[in-house]
Amino acid sequence: APSGATDEPPGLPKATGTATAPATSQATPAAGGAVGAPGIGDPDFPTDGNGGYDVRHYNLVLAYDPATKHLDGTATIQARATQELARFNLDLSGLTVQSVRVGGTPAQFSRQGTELSVSPPAALKDDQDFTVEVRYGGRPGPIRDANNLGVYGFVATPDGAFVTCEPNGAKTWFPGNDHPADKATFDFSITVPQGVTALANGEMTAQPATSGGKTTYTWRERHPMVTYLATMTLGKFQLKQGKTEDGIPNLAAVDPQYADSLQRLYTTSGEITDYWSTVFGPYPFSSTGGVVDDFNAGYALENQTKPIYGGFDPDETIIAHELAHQWFGNSVSIRRWQDLWLNEGFATYAEWLWSEHKGKGTAEAMFKTYYNSKDDPMWAYPPGKARPDDLFNNSVYTRGGLTLHALRQRIGDPAFFKLLRDWAQENKYGNATTDQFIAMAEKVSGKDLDKLFQAWLFTPERPTSW
Ligand code: ARG
Ligand code: ZN
Repeated sequence: APSGATDEPPGLPKATGTATAPATSQATPAAGGAVGAPGIGDPDFPTDGNGGYDVRHYNLVLAYDPATKHLDGTATIQARATQELARFNLDLSGLTVQSVRVGGTPAQFSRQGTELSVSPPAALKDDQDFTVEVRYGGRPGPIRDANNLGVYGFVATPDGAFVTCEPNGAKTWFPGNDHPADKATFDFSITVPQGVTALANGEMTAQPATSGGKTTYTWRERHPMVTYLATMTLGKFQLKQGKTEDGIPNLAAVDPQYADSLQRLYTTSGEITDYWSTVFGPYPFSSTGGVVDDFNAGYALENQTKPIYGGFDPDETIIAHELAHQWFGNSVSIRRWQDLWLNEGFATYAEWLWSEHKGKGTAEAMFKTYYNSKDDPMWAYPPGKARPDDLFNNSVYTRGGLTLHALRQRIGDPAFFKLLRDWAQENKYGNATTDQFIAMAEKVSGKDLDKLFQAWLFTPERPTSW
């Protein structure tokens, strides 16, 4: 890998148990080359995700105890083969695998780093639907990559867990196809000690049920979701539930330390969700909201339906950013990491649109300020190709946003806002690339925009004509 991001960094805490499978479970080499690739084909993250199948649904049955920091899980994955498969991989970091079944029959498996290789009892045929059940457990730990992305994945906190997985930390708590190119629906059943709240994506499918001092929460995300947006945020939380003015179910949850933020988080999240629905098109999911946890991550993440704010009281700018991601990043997802500006440039531009909507600074004023900052390091970093060793560089955010404003100036407001809505609508619940965006921009505007995108997205200097 070109960066440390896909390898287990040296600082990764050793989970209880090891990556070594029991001697009885060594996978045998598959015959005839019908082996799913250990990566999904993202050139910048060659071992992220896996080849040979598409996940349809994850059913995650999990139990976690904050006192022992022990996770017990059964992941049942419904998938469809996209080639013949005598063997295929899942991604899983740390933890111990107890058993793997394919189609209900025990399967052999082995571990190599963060790859879990599975040999089904009989080779799967191309197009075949199949189910993999993985029983696993141990003490999950996050990925630590100080040079690039910080700490992400499953982070144990004194009262529970803070779980933010972008870009590739879902593998720290469940086995799967850990790359945004493979979206799937999710069911969660999370059992925790009584008094702990378990929050996941989507909506609860039943009231939490308590027996024997333990409470089980069931959540369902019924719209396709990339793995890095899945969460099981655990801890003591104060909740406020209701609906936005336009009728979208809204749930705000805050660590008791942020009790004073609950009302404002709820109201602002509802107001912004409704406003973006008028700008970007109908809200793509079945609930909205936000979570403030006391883990000081130094960032927020747009977890699907429930953005999370790590250890701070979010202002409306960042709430506007995370909720814009529900359209751009979560519903319309990237197919490869180099296109990350499609998420972050759009969400940053949304911050400026929110400011404009509120009668504060206009996007035009923002553009001028940044454009006149001639020595900004973002001019040396072309945002159209996010670098695997510096994915979240400010250029991907700010220069990505400036790209959209340059486009808006060039094609005018009617075409620009139609483009944002068409982009969200035509790629709803799917994956898309920068080339597709450029093609749609040219189609909607009827203009040749090659020079503009070349200057703003792909040139390592400050654009002077476009
Ligand atoms: N997508 C997030 C946001 O812009 C940023 C996540 C940063 N991730 C990280 N591991 N530092 O809201
Ligand atoms: Zn963002």
